[in-house]
Amino acid sequence: MPNAHRRILVTSALPYANGHIHLGHLVEYIQTDIFVRFQKLRGQTCIYLCADDTHGTAIMIRARAEGRSEQELIAAMREAHLSDFAGFQIAFDHYGSTDSPANRRLCGEIWSALRRKGLVTARDVRQLFDPVAGVFLADRFVRGTCPKCAAADQYGDSCEQCGATYGPADLVAPKSTLSGATPEVRSAEHLFVTIEKLHEFLAEWTRSSGAIDPRIANYLAGHFLCEPLRDWDISRPAPYFGFEIPDAPGHYWYVWFDAPIGYLAATSEWCERSGGAFESWWQRTEGNEAAAEIHHFIGKDITYFHTLFWPAMLEAAGLALPTKVRIHGFLTVNGQKMSKSRGTFLLARTYLEHLDPGMLRYYYAAKLSGGIDDIDLNLEEFTAKVNADLVGKVVNLASRTARWLDGTGLSPRYPDDGGLFAAAAADGTEIAAAYEDCDFARAMRTIMLAADRANAYVDAEQPWKLAKAGPDAAGRLQDVATVAINLFRQLAVYLAPVLPRFAEQVGDLVGGPIRSWEESQRPLEALGIGRFTPLMQRVEAAQVEAMLAQSLAEAAPQTVPLSPGTASMTTQPTADSAEPLAAEPLADTCTIDDFTKVDLRVARILAAEEVPEAKKLLKLTISLGGDVTRTVFAGIKGFHEPSSLVGRLVVVVANLAPRQMKFGLSEGMVVAASGAGAGGVYLLSPDSGALPGMRLR
Ligand code: 2FM
Ligand code: ZN
Repeated sequence: MPNAHRRILVTSALPYANGHIHLGHLVEYIQTDIFVRFQKLRGQTCIYLCADDTHGTAIMIRARAEGRSEQELIAAMREAHLSDFAGFQIAFDHYGSTDSPANRRLCGEIWSALRRKGLVTARDVRQLFDPVAGVFLADRFVRGTCPKCAAADQYGDSCEQCGATYGPADLVAPKSTLSGATPEVRSAEHLFVTIEKLHEFLAEWTRSSGAIDPRIANYLAGHFLCEPLRDWDISRPAPYFGFEIPDAPGHYWYVWFDAPIGYLAATSEWCERSGGAFESWWQRTEGNEAAAEIHHFIGKDITYFHTLFWPAMLEAAGLALPTKVRIHGFLTVNGQKMSKSRGTFLLARTYLEHLDPGMLRYYYAAKLSGGIDDIDLNLEEFTAKVNADLVGKVVNLASRTARWLDGTGLSPRYPDDGGLFAAAAADGTEIAAAYEDCDFARAMRTIMLAADRANAYVDAEQPWKLAKAGPDAAGRLQDVATVAINLFRQLAVYLAPVLPRFAEQVGDLVGGPIRSWEESQRPLEALGIGRFTPLMQRVEAAQVEAMLAQSLAEAAPQTVPLSPGTASMTTQPTADSAEPLAAEPLADTCTIDDFTKVDLRVARILAAEEVPEAKKLLKLTISLGGDVTRTVFAGIKGFHEPSSLVGRLVVVVANLAPRQMKFGLSEGMVVAASGAGAGGVYLLSPDSGALPGMRLR
């Protein structure tokens, strides 16, 4: 055990509130959660903080399209995120939101510090503006022809065909992906942080603080610190969903300014709740040493923000600097980027409908070695590994021995086991060191070797034969089972950071809750044993198939990735977080007669309720004017809170032939837009003044 007691503040990157949690995100949350649980098990004071990242153009546009406020949208997303995290046993000590009063206050404080230090400057920026949507367009919201190679349909910042990088204003024939309009170039004032003034500090800190892996420090030195650092554009003109800058009305802090400050806000809120002192975490102590350790877990794509901008902000504000920035790679599934068309863009909640969360936690642990390499979720390997290791080696140890202790309990004295328990206890040092380095793969290998030795012991002792040998062998049988169950519980202590639910179940079986790493060092004696129930079932290939099939069925338009084709968080320094929209081919022409056959009416939603058995449906009662009401089952569940729909005007196909569904008769169809690469289902609403029953023509 380490001698000194440590105080450790741990964060994971804040997930955007415009998308659901998927298995790519979970690499990081599971990795962080394992690290935190390990520290707690070792008796350290450790807090795990996170929050939803709520601001930016993407949220604003999506809320607008869904006809609800940004606050309603982020509240619904928060619920969804929290439920996904809980499903995977991710245990935050506090989960905040960047749209909180604490964050606004702390942004103000950091901002004042930057101003005081003379690190803020203003200048005009020429940017594309969508005259129809009424917003300035982040690079990812513009598509057009590459100015270099003439490839059509390229993003506003780079060409996927020839790799050229350029500004959105350089695109030929640009189109806004929000409205399809041709954007105008407009000039607006932006505020910048002159980060170059902290160049020397950053060069020194990235090299010698020990916070950053030397390979990453080299990358920063070779790519950014080898030349003057460009001013960081930190503001966005209205309209923007975020915090208005107090001393620059009409300007908002860019989402990437207030996001990391969310770490501070979450600390402040946690302290408020638990009676701690914010300063004890973030204030510098004598000699510029931090009062506590600060560990940020992030994906490699946001390295720049966490190793240059964020420390610069902390330095300017005189706050403690990160002790470690722990950077991981992306997730691939079956060797390829997660893909909706292959069904491998797997959402957390889809996984949870089919498989045990502990299995993914274990599989990721077995793959994570603390480096920045991408990790691959190979579903065949997943099935084989979980079955071989967790079911075959760990659970099996108890399932073939626990029953022999029914009635007798553990032997009064821990028997001679040939040194097995002591050997695995000694492994604890190496396992702990591996957890500390986030080399969970090494920790899992060492644990599984101990499991192999334990199983070899049971194979050799053959308790089932002793059981048949009658009363003379009863003492020996109890001893053999006592050894096996102790070795089993020892494995459960080591696996507790990875498999918290399993560790609880083992505690119920024998010895009570596992609370400390030290419990791996002493065998249990003379204790009763609970009833053994199978702690984990084998995964069948059919379960994985069913999960993929569901994922495929749920793919566009329901899923909202954070970034196309990538399984992790991939916002680039210059890009806002949003999905580019892909054009869908237009349908064949129809005649006016064809069109008038469709009786499109304005309707008011009178009631909206969940259909619990249906994944996608809400049951709507609508008024078509007068006392004409209809019941319609609409596939919009998950995108619209039922309560937010009541009273809303929508457009319906009033003469659609009624359809008998499992849940009742659907008498029409509510019109909604979807697809074009954007997640979400967007209801159409008429201008104000329209009345239920009006016909669209
Ligand atoms: O890349 C992302 O998904 C961001 N939402 C991460 C923010 S982390 C921090 F800086 F707040
Ligand atoms: Zn090109």
